[in-house]
Amino acid sequence: MCGIVGYAGRRPCKPIILDGLRRLEYRGYDSAGIVLIEGDGLQTVRSVGNLDALFAAAGETSSKATVGLGHTRWATHGRPSHENAHPHDDCTGRVSIVVNGIVENYKELRAELTARGHEFKSETDAEVVAHLIEEHVDEGLTAAVCAAARALQGHHAFCAVSADEPGAVVGTRNQCPLVVGVGDGEMFFASAIPAFMAHTRTVIVLEDGDVVTLHADGAEFCDVAGAPLVREETVVPWDDAAAEKGGYETFMLKEIHEQPAALRDTLAGRLLEDGTVDLSEVGIGDEMLRRLRRIFIVACGTSYHAGLIVSYAIEQLARVPVQIDVASEFRYREPVFDPDTLVIGITQSGETADTLAAMRLAREAGSPVLAICNVMGSQATREADYVLYTRAGLEIGVAATKTHTSQVAALLLLALRLAWARGARTEDELKRLGHELRAVPELVQQLLERDTAVSAIAQRYHDERFFLYLGRGMGFAVCLEGALKLKEISYIPTEAYAAGEMKHGPIALLDKESPVVVVADDGPVFPKLVSNIEEVRARGADVIAVATDGNEVIGELSRDVLWVPKCDHHVAPILTVVPLQLLAYHIAGIKGLNVDQPRNLAKTVTVE
Ligand code: F6R
Repeated sequence: MCGIVGYAGRRPCKPIILDGLRRLEYRGYDSAGIVLIEGDGLQTVRSVGNLDALFAAAGETSSKATVGLGHTRWATHGRPSHENAHPHDDCTGRVSIVVNGIVENYKELRAELTARGHEFKSETDAEVVAHLIEEHVDEGLTAAVCAAARALQGHHAFCAVSADEPGAVVGTRNQCPLVVGVGDGEMFFASAIPAFMAHTRTVIVLEDGDVVTLHADGAEFCDVAGAPLVREETVVPWDDAAAEKGGYETFMLKEIHEQPAALRDTLAGRLLEDGTVDLSEVGIGDEMLRRLRRIFIVACGTSYHAGLIVSYAIEQLARVPVQIDVASEFRYREPVFDPDTLVIGITQSGETADTLAAMRLAREAGSPVLAICNVMGSQATREADYVLYTRAGLEIGVAATKTHTSQVAALLLLALRLAWARGARTEDELKRLGHELRAVPELVQQLLERDTAVSAIAQRYHDERFFLYLGRGMGFAVCLEGALKLKEISYIPTEAYAAGEMKHGPIALLDKESPVVVVADDGPVFPKLVSNIEEVRARGADVIAVATDGNEVIGELSRDVLWVPKCDHHVAPILTVVPLQLLAYHIAGIKGLNVDQPRNLAKTVTVE
């Protein structure tokens, strides 16, 4: 995440940049900063906390600067602090940069730059960009940005200014958003269009690898090798409210569509190109992973479902016994702890009262505690012994979507690392699964392009009074999540059951009136699930299946199928949940409900 704003024009730009940051605050709010070209030097203001702190600090100085950059941060590498806040400058203080995304090879680059005499002031991956530019800035800022972009691996967008080229801002992107706004005698950079919508609706959307130099009178485009490019302008027809949501109708839909990026960010630098997993940042060594005799997972709601999904994967891949419980039950059932039991608390907010209490209980009783969390500096991350961050960015919609799939991805990394450390599976097998997981963000992207099929199914079923969800194994856990999404935003009663349990009671609910959603990935229990689908059909109920492309058996047995791309069944839950999020979203939308703020719910539950 993180938000970037850049300006080159003729007006004093400090208020314009600060206003742009305010509109991007949803992208991160743990620290922020601004750099302005003042006279023949750079003036930088940075602060920790949300934008109010930056407004207060920046407000103390007046400025006539007409070129500058701003940044609002969602920390990934380095805690939220003054030193780690952007902008970062080079050793001379003549170059300053802001970065969104992750520089995957920053450790190598930092070591090389340090060996060449550069001194680093922050713990961030981003600062290498300033020093890389410094090494080439004599060739001009644009050439220096091209050189830096060529050296970086990972997904990122960054902008730079130099006191020696006071009229210019140069930016580039690779798999992270950066758009150009074309004004009258002024030009803008931003991570999202809303940042400059008060000034212009004429935009130029950049391609990966574009390098853009902005001056007050226009923009020049080239690729990272310096070859000139031509890019077209378009005019966006949004109103301001739509703009805040990046053109989506709701935050929930926007966040559903942000899942490929959230997954990419969560895996970046941890799932390596050869398919192996590096979680050294977490600080749990292989020796400790080998020593573990048991894992407890505690969480609430959607986070609990992520834990349930991966509890199967941990046992299957790493052969460590896992017990999972909702935190509100766990904390009062007097569980037995010991130092060889790892307790994993999963909480996107890091503030859920029951989960925090369960984690505290475990620590006090001598078990090590790992937090899987999305919010840097939150209570769970301060109290846990170890932290593995999801990097989904800020989630505003009350119904969790991108944070859920990111939790599953982060936990799968842990499962793979655990299996590797314990020698529970062959290295080849684990690398193959690593490659499967690396492919997931792209597969989710493809899946989101099939949304029209989901909305057609929502049209057909939106008037139903009850939905039953059936699945087995991880598919059952996905059913729990799909059923929760539908009930919490559409208020339609739902029930999710392990398909094999159906004959022990829930089958009594089946009739022609109630559709049954079946999650049918290609896992080992698929043949068993087919028998369950036959039982449903025999009672006249419509089956809406979620199944993998080309599964003819499901195609024949189901009235409707939500197809997902083929993948290994261990990673399938990240895919199969997406059509269920969209189904719930569309049904609630047809009913005219406010999906971002469903009744009676709060995004963070800080009371018992
Ligand atoms: C449902 C939802 C909730 C949360 C639960 C835990 O869509 O978002 O069920 O998952 O309140 O919240 P965190 O993960 O912040 O502890």
